[in-house]
Amino acid sequence: MKSDLLQWICCPACKGDLALTVAAGDATTVAEGTLTCAPCGHTYPIVRGVPRFVAHDGYVKTFSYEWNKWSRVQFDPANGRTESEETFTEKTGFTPADLEGRLVLDVGCGAGRFLEIASRWGARAIGIDFSFAVEASQTNLGQRPNVDVIQADVFHLPFRDEVFDIIFSIGVLHHTRDTREAFLRLPRHLKNGGQIAVWLYYYTDQLYNRASDFWRRVVRGWPNGAIYAFCWTLCLLFSRLYSQPFMSRRPWGHLRRVLPVNTHPDWHWRVLDTFDWYSPMYQDKDCSPERVASWCREGQLHDVEILSFPTSIRAVKDVENTRPLIKALPDLHNRRLVVFGAGAAGVLAFEELRKMGLAHQVVGVCDNDPAKAGKAFEGHTVTPFAALARDSYDHIVIASQYGLPAISAQLRDSGLVDKQDFFSIGFVENLGPLLRLARQDA
Ligand SMILES: C[S@@+](CC[C@H](N)C(=O)[O-])C[C@H]1O[C@@H](n2cnc3c(N)ncnc32)[C@H](O)[C@@H]1O
Ligand SMILES: [Zn+2]
Repeated sequence: MKSDLLQWICCPACKGDLALTVAAGDATTVAEGTLTCAPCGHTYPIVRGVPRFVAHDGYVKTFSYEWNKWSRVQFDPANGRTESEETFTEKTGFTPADLEGRLVLDVGCGAGRFLEIASRWGARAIGIDFSFAVEASQTNLGQRPNVDVIQADVFHLPFRDEVFDIIFSIGVLHHTRDTREAFLRLPRHLKNGGQIAVWLYYYTDQLYNRASDFWRRVVRGWPNGAIYAFCWTLCLLFSRLYSQPFMSRRPWGHLRRVLPVNTHPDWHWRVLDTFDWYSPMYQDKDCSPERVASWCREGQLHDVEILSFPTSIRAVKDVENTRPLIKALPDLHNRRLVVFGAGAAGVLAFEELRKMGLAHQVVGVCDNDPAKAGKAFEGHTVTPFAALARDSYDHIVIASQYGLPAISAQLRDSGLVDKQDFFSIGFVENLGPLLRLARQDA
């Protein structure tokens, strides 16, 4: 723990000031010690540099296992990839300029992959997690002078009100017993004008959701090692098969809906994400942008923006109520669309566009894979992006699960503007409900 942390934390039980006793460490970094609340007498130990505001890891034991087993797999500095940084940009919309010099909180930091980005971009970065994932994030980042890791529960946060410039939480709040309540614990710690970004699960395929809940009930109670062996075996049997485009079509597609397996190109990442899907105690998969936007209204959060990946939402704390609830949205009515991605995700995108009555507005399909150029796809001929004339379409809809960050960057580099000239298919799916909310609010 860095000693300057003391100015922002308080007793989670009574909000009283905490007094620091150092048992090991130096003037700036505390390795072992105690935080004592003067008003209520509670004491909180600092163990291996991490202040501990919870006595155990409760319902998140699978996460304690997960992030200590795969502590470096998704950690950009360790794996030589930039995928976590791209995911962070995609899911929060933040840039280095937004974070530099700011006080930033990562709620549910896991092994610290996003806390790492906040610290690298120059923030004073604080991460909390309920599980013993904090051991992994502290080992990964504890030596950085601008990082602190705290073991705490989102329902009992040890922070003073209105201290943070930015709060983000990626893939966390839907793993608590009450997603809305967990979300609403956050805004009070944000300064007025500060920004919040969260990413939450939203899956509308009920067969997929029911199968996932069934499997989670089956494996609940198994030792973590047994769940790991189960997920490892599923990956071995199914991940290559699931990467084939024909798996997106019925009847084959049903198999991946009832027995989902991650298909990430990196084997360890694949097993990690499959474990992450099958093992959590809580998994709220119904966090629609509409639902989250309504929580924003309750939390005095305005200018709600939906980012590319559903449900990624960013909003601004606005206690005076001067901003609109929903930030301006594009209207796709009668616009010419190009689908970017002629693979499995492209097939699903066309299915969605048909449901939304937008498929007839598609004027072309493009893909970066030269082998697909000239081939027929959903009634169109696949062309390379470079061959598309800008005046032949109005918007591009990206249909690619893992390629989304790279394709977004490619389109930005060619002068197109995110959320104006191009969107993900997930973004398009959620426009309708958000336009309705914006109209209600106006
Ligand atoms: C899927 S992991 C995501 C970790 C990290 N944000 C990432 O994306 O790499 C979810 C994390 O939420 C944490 N979590 C679950 N319930 C929590 C709670 N009540 N308070 C704080 N953290 C919690 C878990 O311990 C776990 O590390
Ligand atoms: Zn107290």
